[in-house]
Amino acid sequence: MTYPTVPPRHPPLRRWILGVSGGIAAYKACELTRLLVKAGAEVQVIMTQAATQFVTPLTFQSLSGRPVLSHIWEPRQDNGMDHIDLARWAEAILIAPASADFLARIAHGMADDLLTTLVAARSIPLYLAPAMNQAMWNNPANQRNVEQLTLDGAIFLGPGEGQQACGETGMGRLLEPSELLSLLSPLIGSKPLVDLRGKRIVLTAGPTVEAIDPVRTLTNISSGKMGYALAAAAVISGADVTLISGPTALSVPAGCHLIPVHSAAQMRDAVLSEIQDADLFFSVAAVADYTPESPSGHKIKKTGAPMTLTLVPTPDILATVAALPNPPFCVGFAAESQHLEEYAKRKRLAKNIPLIVGNLAQRALGRDDNEVTLFDANGSHPLSPASKEILAHQILAHAITLMNTQST
Ligand code: CTP
Repeated sequence: MTYPTVPPRHPPLRRWILGVSGGIAAYKACELTRLLVKAGAEVQVIMTQAATQFVTPLTFQSLSGRPVLSHIWEPRQDNGMDHIDLARWAEAILIAPASADFLARIAHGMADDLLTTLVAARSIPLYLAPAMNQAMWNNPANQRNVEQLTLDGAIFLGPGEGQQACGETGMGRLLEPSELLSLLSPLIGSKPLVDLRGKRIVLTAGPTVEAIDPVRTLTNISSGKMGYALAAAAVISGADVTLISGPTALSVPAGCHLIPVHSAAQMRDAVLSEIQDADLFFSVAAVADYTPESPSGHKIKKTGAPMTLTLVPTPDILATVAALPNPPFCVGFAAESQHLEEYAKRKRLAKNIPLIVGNLAQRALGRDDNEVTLFDANGSHPLSPASKEILAHQILAHAITLMNTQST
């Protein structure tokens, strides 16, 4: 069965504020500006005073084609926009590099220059690409700020690990401009990471809900955000997408064919009826492993005595699909609370699937960002922390590359 392909759900984010804070990595923001402009973004660079000590505003002006701003006090900036106009114009803010000092200031809501004021007053997504010495990154105060900013909805891109300008090695390196661009380009709408035109993708997402009686259920905690982000990324990449979802509070990505389900058994039935001509299957749902053996048709009355509920195992949907005679390329998800690598690897082998995406449940549940590692026959591939939207595009790209190498 095929469904009409319709335009992507996300309007592309074209108008970016690129905030440059003080640090030696500021020079990399020049190349980033060039790449963002080339990818179709309009870029307004805003520098902190400290950043202007490292790179001249003129360099950014030449690369972005717009006067660089750094002072809040000019009544009207060179390009005719004051900071209120600027906040209305922009669709996203990216701070690269984000220094330890800058993170500390915005974590505390300070607004004492143009860039921090815009961050404090924003109602648009904020992406932070940190760059600092590894000891500063690991410093408990900095880690507290990172945690606070994440809770406040900021999305961290990196930092990376490796050789640093100070000669030390460790976490804190600004991601390379090309790495940042590949993370952001699907949002800019220039091009998805992969071309999935002609491919049919089936996904499961969200929790399943198992009835105990008409008013009580057993369920798993799952917002559905990762599965919906993958479905949206697959549509943006041109695929024909069927999303089989348990109940969530999310709106369905435009272009997906949604099949709503409740129980694991309903999800299994929907998957099996949709899977025949699928090229890829992403099993993102948090499927209940057990269901009440005989749900009551009427509300169970309390007696005051302890109650015993007999639970029976649900079908393993992913393992069932992987065991079909001509299975699609199957991708599983493993949310673990401990021993992530060991359990994820074991699950990949037990379910006989080529790829599993592992993450720590306590790091991911309900949040807009995540930190995942991909496990395949070649080993483990950690991805930099990022929004689920960005991770979705990277997971898709990895799956397609693996699928193509397997079929050659
Ligand atoms: N899965 C499934 N059907 C089930 C249980 C899980 O399709 N009945 C899929 C999930 O969608 C996920 C993968 O299997 O892609 C791993 O799910 P998870 O709950 O982490 O693992 P389980 O196999 O249920 O093992 P355990 O609960 O013991 O960790």
